[in-house]
Amino acid sequence: MCGIVGYIGTREAAPLLLGGLHRLEYRGYDSAGIALLNGGLPFMKQKGSVAELQKAFDASPARMLGATIGIGHTRWATHGDPSDRNAHPHLNAQEDIAVIHNGIIENYSVLKQELQGEGYHFQSDTDSEVLVQLIDRIWKIDPSLSLEAVVRAALRHVEGAYGVCVISPRDPDKIVVARKGSPLVIGIGEGEYFIASDAAPIVEHTNRVVYLSDGEMAVITRSGYQVRTIENVAMEKDITELDFSLEKIEKGGYEHFMLKEIFEQPDVMHDVMRGRVRTEEGRVVLGGIEDYLDRLKQARRIVICACGTSWHAGLIGEYLIEDFARIPVEVDYASEFRYRNPIIGPDDVVIVISQSGETADTLAALRAAKEKGAMVMGICNVVGSTIARETMCGIYTHAGPEVGVASTKAFTAQVIVLYMLALALSKGRTISHDEMRLSLKELSKVPEHAAKILELDSQIQQIADDYKDARNFLYLGRGYNFPVALEGALKLKEISYIHAEGYPAAEMKHGPIALIDEDMPVVVIATRDSSYQKILSNIEEVRSRKGRVIAIASEGDTEVARLAEHVIYIPQASAQIMPLLTVIPLQLLSYHIATLRGCNVDRPRNLAKSVTVE
Ligand code: F6R
Repeated sequence: MCGIVGYIGTREAAPLLLGGLHRLEYRGYDSAGIALLNGGLPFMKQKGSVAELQKAFDASPARMLGATIGIGHTRWATHGDPSDRNAHPHLNAQEDIAVIHNGIIENYSVLKQELQGEGYHFQSDTDSEVLVQLIDRIWKIDPSLSLEAVVRAALRHVEGAYGVCVISPRDPDKIVVARKGSPLVIGIGEGEYFIASDAAPIVEHTNRVVYLSDGEMAVITRSGYQVRTIENVAMEKDITELDFSLEKIEKGGYEHFMLKEIFEQPDVMHDVMRGRVRTEEGRVVLGGIEDYLDRLKQARRIVICACGTSWHAGLIGEYLIEDFARIPVEVDYASEFRYRNPIIGPDDVVIVISQSGETADTLAALRAAKEKGAMVMGICNVVGSTIARETMCGIYTHAGPEVGVASTKAFTAQVIVLYMLALALSKGRTISHDEMRLSLKELSKVPEHAAKILELDSQIQQIADDYKDARNFLYLGRGYNFPVALEGALKLKEISYIHAEGYPAAEMKHGPIALIDEDMPVVVIATRDSSYQKILSNIEEVRSRKGRVIAIASEGDTEVARLAEHVIYIPQASAQIMPLLTVIPLQLLSYHIATLRGCNVDRPRNLAKSVTVE
């Protein structure tokens, strides 16, 4: 949520900052800006995309050329509409301090009133601007202070979350950064350093990074960096080697990241299982939780906390863990869990699921669970992310960087991890060796099945063409396919802006059936499992009210074809495996409907990839 970049070195900074902002645009894209140290403090900021900022820069680069230090920002609005004046960086009246900020300053209105009372005029409606004015005020009182000292003093007044970068010609040749709740990474090059809110803009320059933790600040110069706590205690930080390459964060010939990521799924599925699924031995090896496995197996209860698509994966996890391992599971929205005083104790295990590993509500749920003494485990995609670091143990999904704002490959990777976890928890307790081998064998076939489903892309595109003008959609599924119905509806609404609802199919009779008429497309997941006959009855109910049915059905099923207007056939598999397959046609359906409607699927309006504010 909002992207930050910074550069200090010997190269021309502006093109590097703009390039970095392009890579970060999935974190926010309603406005963008850069500021550089070039004797003075030239800056450029405006509403719109990074491409538009680039155009403005190309039209008049003069003031910016020659600068080798700078900071940049791409915004996802929280306080103040997307506009030129609310774009970052924010500067003081003398235009000699520039600040970019991610996060939310919760006490900004009190601070703003105080500063206004002292004669400060605010140029924007943002919470972020109070930071630059606070720094200005502190520097006026004591001009002898260093940039890091004034930033440290200003941050003491601030409540809320921040990732900040500050530069000033009054104390040139350095960038000061600080983190509390909003991620920041320092990239270490040869005589040059990069700063970013995630590793995407850094990886093309260096794979050596330092992740700042909450409550830490860093002063970065051309000759090195120093990390201290906000309280000014020196810190030793480990250098992490990034293990992803540039090509993983580029489109590789696909029109959109989302489509690329949907098509990557068979490979991702292999990657998630690699070295972990030992079918012949009848076991799963999950290194990140090995030492905690006994405690996990003895859990009185498992509570899964997550948001959005990760929450849907959590629901499937509930079914899997209860089914295989017979441990009671509850699934909570992280945002609800953290505020509702849940009953949690040392016998409970809380599993947090997050692609980004930075979602503010999920992180807060993790911390709340830890405070209550629960064992906390993570399922994350981004290596080294805050959630990954703060959980006691965890399993990485290894899906590779997910750039498309709508989550696709991260979801299937999360479900595979949950399947492996459920089996690991069952071993020696609730399933036999043969059942284990059978379940693992089924899982190993998933990438092959997924590849076969992706071959249906053009059929799905044609169906999408028929329905692209619909105003509403209903998604129905039962059992393991109920969370997939929720996920299908979420995917459609977030990228096509068509209103869509997911329901357990049997619940339709208790309300949503009133909506059904000839203008209501209903996507029914009707694969062959124990509730197959029941779901056929649900399809009949929809048909008799003239609803138009798109069914996802098992290969060879002729009964569904009799009832549904369109059938998308997928390979048959067990109920536990099905969500990994049924979700793929739904991802493609939303992708094609959205692109046919002319929507920007990689950057849907109002959304951001990583929600680091509450
Ligand atoms: C939907 C989507 C969001 C995220 C949610 C949680 O396509 O991407 O609903 O799933 O914001 O994000 P993570 O998994 O990063 O915690």
